[in-house]
Amino acid sequence: MQTCGLVEKEPTYRIAFSQCVGSDAWRQTMLEEMKRELSFYPDIEFVYRDADNSNKRQIDQLRELLAMRPDLIIVSPNEAEPLTPVVDEIFRNGIPVIVTDRKTSSGLYHAYVGADNYEIGFMAGQYLARQLGGQGAISEVMGLPGSSAAIERQKGFHDALKPHPGIRLVAQINGRWLIDEAKLQVAQRTDDLAASDAIFAYNDQMALGTYGALQQALPGNGIKIVGVDALPGDGNGLHSVAEKVLDATMLYPTGGKECIQTAVAILNNQPYQRENILGTLVIDSANVHLMKLQTDKVISQQRDIDKQQRLLAEQEQLFSNQQRVLNILVVSLVFAVVFAGVSFYSLKANWEKNKQLEQQNHEILAQQQRILEMTSEVEQATEAKINFFTNISHEFKTPLSLMLIPLENIVKNEKLPESALRSLSLVKKNALILQHLVSQLIDLRRMGYENLRIKAKKGNILLFCNQVVQSFRPLAQQRSISFRLENKSADTTLWFDEVLMEKLLYNLLSNAFKFTPPQGEIVLRIASTAYDAKELEIQVTDTGKGIAEADISRLFEPFYQAENHTNGTGLGLSLCKEIASLHHGSITVRSELGKGTEFTVRLPMGDAHLTEEDKAQSPAPHASGEANETASLLSVLEHEHESDAHGNGTATEISNPDVVKDHSILVVEDHPEMRRFLSEKLAAHFTVFTAADAREGINQAQAQLPDLIISDVLMPGLLGTEFAKKLKADVRTATIPIILLTARGSDEQMLTGLDTLADAYLTKPFNFDHLIAVANNLIQNRKLLRHHFSSDAVELQPVSKLASADRQFLNELAAVVEENIANSELNVDYLCEHLAVSRIQLYRRVKSLLNCSINDYISARRLRKAKVLLQQGMPVNIVAYQTGFSSPAYFSTAFKSKYGMPPSSFKKNASATT
Ligand code: FRU
Repeated sequence: MQTCGLVEKEPTYRIAFSQCVGSDAWRQTMLEEMKRELSFYPDIEFVYRDADNSNKRQIDQLRELLAMRPDLIIVSPNEAEPLTPVVDEIFRNGIPVIVTDRKTSSGLYHAYVGADNYEIGFMAGQYLARQLGGQGAISEVMGLPGSSAAIERQKGFHDALKPHPGIRLVAQINGRWLIDEAKLQVAQRTDDLAASDAIFAYNDQMALGTYGALQQALPGNGIKIVGVDALPGDGNGLHSVAEKVLDATMLYPTGGKECIQTAVAILNNQPYQRENILGTLVIDSANVHLMKLQTDKVISQQRDIDKQQRLLAEQEQLFSNQQRVLNILVVSLVFAVVFAGVSFYSLKANWEKNKQLEQQNHEILAQQQRILEMTSEVEQATEAKINFFTNISHEFKTPLSLMLIPLENIVKNEKLPESALRSLSLVKKNALILQHLVSQLIDLRRMGYENLRIKAKKGNILLFCNQVVQSFRPLAQQRSISFRLENKSADTTLWFDEVLMEKLLYNLLSNAFKFTPPQGEIVLRIASTAYDAKELEIQVTDTGKGIAEADISRLFEPFYQAENHTNGTGLGLSLCKEIASLHHGSITVRSELGKGTEFTVRLPMGDAHLTEEDKAQSPAPHASGEANETASLLSVLEHEHESDAHGNGTATEISNPDVVKDHSILVVEDHPEMRRFLSEKLAAHFTVFTAADAREGINQAQAQLPDLIISDVLMPGLLGTEFAKKLKADVRTATIPIILLTARGSDEQMLTGLDTLADAYLTKPFNFDHLIAVANNLIQNRKLLRHHFSSDAVELQPVSKLASADRQFLNELAAVVEENIANSELNVDYLCEHLAVSRIQLYRRVKSLLNCSINDYISARRLRKAKVLLQQGMPVNIVAYQTGFSSPAYFSTAFKSKYGMPPSSFKKNASATT
């Protein structure tokens, strides 16, 4: 059952109905009546079971219903006796029981609904007795014998006939309440029934069965037949009486409506009637039409009600559907509003993001444009710079030639003094180097920026190499280097540009000669490549000092200088690389430090890789003047050898030993020419020591303790700046002034942060007189300073007159005392420990060098320093502690005994004079 609401409600009550048989019209009418009435109670659930005339089935169904624990059970028992126990059990279980139509034998029920069957039987008996005039034969067609309706109707019928002895009962037939059963039984006993004047069938269905069977057997027999029920409708009792098929019928109402009304009253604890006896009457030809009219009316009304209810149910369903749709719509609307909100915000966010991205895009594009412009500006600037560089290089060539030509003549002059010859040779050599560098620069420029093409022609590379080798022979001999040409290729025909190839070979070989020591070996080797004969290899192998692995990858970059290949500009190898690639070949290097280097040039054989433009139209390589430059390179190499032989690296004192100079200078310079030049020039003024690199320089500085150090900045191994830092960190050398010589602007930049390390720096080319002036100035300043801080009693002799070991000792002693001047605990033991000497050694050395005791020396230095601090305006008390006196009083006494006045007066005088 459904309620009228939108939502199905849990039913409030459940009513179960157990029907003994549901197939006949009377029972169906009963069920319809119940349902019609129930439609007014939508919160009641109705459970229906049909036992189909079977006691057993009805018992089982009742048990099932009991287990369901309904709120009330209505039962119409099939037969009284078999059904009584189960109905009683239900009753005892506290479930209200309404018995309808038929009864149980115990009478245990809460209410009964139905007509009085005894009265119905009695009314039928009276009616027939009246119809027969108290005389005649009567037969009975009975219902199920155990059913209470059959028992009670029979009793009433027989009781009504008792006062009429003229009426005799001729036959009794059991029709079991069913039309077919009655027809069958009657058909079997037509002989008995033929004698009957009237028959009482216990219901209309059995009456109609009897009528049918008799009409068949005895057509037009005239036997009166009376039934029970008076149900309206075709084939039912009321209609049959109206059509005179039956003579009469006893009205037996189904009581369906009353059952439900009683049940509702019980469930709602309302007052109800236990015995609900429905009214009855006899219907025959006299009142049948009136009854029919009434029942038709009732049926029509009931149909209207059913129709109304159906419409109502449909409306409810429609309403419920509409509610559901409305709910869905409302929920959808809410979602739509929410989604619209979210979409709006995300659209807005997207729009803003897009705007931002667009802005960024614009900025990026603008930046890109700017970068492109800048790149183009840089390219233009670079181009301009390179053009300038090339032009300048060209400009250099003429003056260089004009310098070299007269020089050649002057050098040949035999009357030239030895020193002048040496200087002029130096000039010539460096002019040649400049000339060579200028040529290389111009070559690189032509190859890199002017898309220079090779002018290759077919030739024999072996013969060509041999010519080059010949020109290096004298150099090899001069340097005691084993130099040979090897050929391992059957075919030495190659397409190559002679001018460029000559440059390549000269560069590789000159490199090899530059870094290979005497007794070393250089091989120029020609070979086919291992895989096929399509390439030719030209190898230059040496047993020189080798190249560090870190440098190998950058070796062919222009201006790159390897750590231990500092002699040169870094142009030669990049030129070689350009030449190799112009020939569609490559150049590689293998090297091991201390063992040697192997350069391999691989060049394609044949001319398939060359265009017509690459091939030389007219051969004239050596007429270009390039050969002069390579020859000049050889000349440079020879000169280099000579100068190396004179002064090579290690520290050497080159001054004239006969002349004792007051001061000494250490020259640290890796370039032999420059080192030699400086040494020679400085030797006129100072005792000169030399070192070829920073490591040597440090050793020399510590050993000689020179008065000044002049060092190059750019040196192999340790830079001059690092060298200066190391010396300043060492107490022994910390006070030695240092002049750094720089060659480039970049060195100067490097020095800006380190200028506190060097006492001065000069940029090459420098004026020698200026160098001497700076050197003297620094030495004098240092001397003044030393004097300033040393004791009056301890005036050092000129340093150069002391043995270097003594100078070193005094320097160290002064440094330790100076460092600890504020320490009042400074004593002999401390000095011994820090100077690594015994007490006796210390006493003796100080006595012999300074002619005083150690304590006198310390005290003198303290007072000297105190004097300086007082002059600078420091308060007396602080000066006392700053100079290591245990108390101001003791300081005053000591100061007064030394300088004849107390420190306070000295301070006053000093401030008055300044
Ligand atoms: C229907 C019926 C009725 C009769 C009643 C007696 O099943 O046979 O015709 O009046 O039952 O219980």
